[in-house]
Amino acid sequence: MLLPDLPLRTDRLDLRLFTADDFAALHAYQSRADVTRYLYFPPNDEAASREALARKRARVALRAPGDVLNLAIVVRATGELVGDVLLIWTSAEHRQGEIGYVLHPDHTGHGYATEAARELLRLGFDGLGLHRIVGRLDARNAASARVLTRLGMRHEAHLVQNEFVKGEWTDEAVYALLAAEWRAVSRGAGPPS
Ligand SMILES: CC(C)(COP(=O)(O)OP(=O)(O)OC[C@H]1O[C@@H](n2cnc3c(N)ncnc32)[C@H](O)[C@@H]1OP(=O)(O)O)[C@@H](O)C(=O)NCCC(=O)NCCS
Repeated sequence: MLLPDLPLRTDRLDLRLFTADDFAALHAYQSRADVTRYLYFPPNDEAASREALARKRARVALRAPGDVLNLAIVVRATGELVGDVLLIWTSAEHRQGEIGYVLHPDHTGHGYATEAARELLRLGFDGLGLHRIVGRLDARNAASARVLTRLGMRHEAHLVQNEFVKGEWTDEAVYALLAAEWRAVSRGAGPPS
């Protein structure tokens, strides 16, 4: 069980819970076709973004397997919400988790997704005691693959046409990191950040 002390602070970011005031910022990126291209859902209309915000506001702690911690990524220097990051506790027995992240395209190219996801890896391994954390993505999502690689995660699998998403068969890539590898990466012994 993990009830993190929030907000989490990284060099440039505050990772905080979503609030009712975040609708406009969330809708600004979830309504874009370039953002949802490789996600499971099409661009949101306002109703879908309101439902998404309600879901995100409920994802506040990891009390049991299946729970999701979903945090808004806020650039501390400007106070702007630029995206969100999540950690899913997928299994207690196998001590497994999964990370995910989305940025508004106006704020890509600065390393914010990598910085935010690294903090959730820290939370998963050091806070929750996970053994293995994965990142799953549409295999065409090159920007996301680069984030996972920068985090030191291993490309473990390429699953051919294993999902039917938005009218087409898609390949899925799986990246993973073990707790022991995380400790090596954290000490600077792993791949460069
Ligand atoms: C996936 C996604 C979050 C990646 O965004 P991103 O901005 O490329 O990733 P980061 O924020 O970690 O930034 C890394 C980029 O900034 C550059 N960068 C600049 N300053 C940096 C810094 N201080 N630290 C790290 N990287 C920095 C890196 O070189 C890198 O660019 P490159 O990939 O062209 O080499 C973004 O494309 C997105 O939101 N896509 C839509 C949603 C999505 O597909 N989510 C993933 C689902 S699996």
